[in-house]
Amino acid sequence: LQTLPPVQLAHKYFELFPEQKDPLWQNPCDDKRHRDIWSREKTCDRLPKFLVIGPQKTGTTALYLFLIMHPSIISNSPSPKTFEEVQFFNRNNYHRGIDWYMDFFPVPSNVSTDFLFEKSANYFHSEEAPKRAASLIPKAKIITILIDPSDRAYSWYQHQRSHEDLAALKFSFYQVITAGPRAPSELRALQKRCLVPGWYATHIERWLTYFPTSQLLIIDGQQLRIDPATVMDEVQNVQNIHFRFDSHKGFWCQLLEEGKTKCLGKSKGRKYPPMDSEVNHWLFLSSYYRDHNVELSKLLHKLGQPLPSWLRQELQKVR
Ligand code: A3P
Repeated sequence: LQTLPPVQLAHKYFELFPEQKDPLWQNPCDDKRHRDIWSREKTCDRLPKFLVIGPQKTGTTALYLFLIMHPSIISNSPSPKTFEEVQFFNRNNYHRGIDWYMDFFPVPSNVSTDFLFEKSANYFHSEEAPKRAASLIPKAKIITILIDPSDRAYSWYQHQRSHEDLAALKFSFYQVITAGPRAPSELRALQKRCLVPGWYATHIERWLTYFPTSQLLIIDGQQLRIDPATVMDEVQNVQNIHFRFDSHKGFWCQLLEEGKTKCLGKSKGRKYPPMDSEVNHWLFLSSYYRDHNVELSKLLHKLGQPLPSWLRQELQKVR
C-alpha cells in the first residue's frame, strides 16, 4: 500500500475522480457521520430558512427591506464583493464552502422563531443554484417575484447604464434586444443577460425539479409595487409594518414612528424615460416573450397559482 503527501494525494484523487471536483455541500448536521466530525463550536443553525431568488429588477430590494422591518426576520450581513448580495449558490463563492457561507449569518437567538434569509437576485436564472440550494437547505422556502419580463429587461438595461457598463452606454435598448447572431460579442453578451432571466417558466421549472411546489412562493411584482401591505401580509404574515405612499419618490415607503417616510435609495425606482413607444420595443419584446409567457401561464395553472395581472394582459395580446 502506497500513499503520498496530502496535496499530491488530493491531486491524485481528483485525477481518478474528476467529477468530484465540483462539490455539492449538504447540511453537516443531517448525517451522523458528518455531525460526528463537525466541530463542537459550530452550529448548523446559521443557514437561511428562505431565499429570495430574484430575478433582478423585479423589486427584490423592496421586498428585502420590507422583510427586515420584522423583528424576527434576519438577513445575512452584506458582502462587500458582490454588491451586498452573498451570491453563494450561483457562483464560484460556492467553492469557498459552507463555513464561508454561514459566517454571513448571525447565530439566531431563537432557532424556532427567528427566520434567517438571504436575497441574491441572480439565483433565479442560475443553472447551478437550485440543485446546490436543495442540497444544503432542502426545507427552505423559495421566493420569487415576477413582473412583465419586457419591463424587467428595460429596467435591467437602465441599471447597467447607470453602472456605466460600456456596452449598455454604447448601444441603444433597441439595438440590445434586437441584436442578431452576427452582432459584436459584447452586444450579444449584454443581450443575453438582459433577456434570458425573463424566460420565467424555464427557470421556475428548474427550481421545481429540486424543490416541492409547496415551498415555492411567487409574488406579483406589480402588486408589490402598488400594494406592498397586502403582499407582505401574504408573505409569512409579515404584519405590523406600515407604509405610506411618497409622492416625491413615486413609490410606497416605510412609515416611521415619527410620521416620516423611509424610502429605498436612488438606485431603486430610478428616473429614466419610459420605453420609447415610437420604436417597436413593445411589439418586439411582446413577441419575443410570447411563448415563454404562455408556458408560464400553463405552469401557474398547474400549480394552482393566480395569474399576475400583467400576464393576463400579455396573454390577451396573443389571442
Ligand atoms: P426601477 O428602478 O427600474 O424602477 P431590484 O431591487 O430587484 O433591483 O428592483 C428594482 C425595482 O424595484 C425598481 O426598478 C422599482 O420599479 C421596483 N420597486 C418596487 N417597489 C419599490 C419601492 N417601494 N421603492 C422603490 N422601488 C421599488
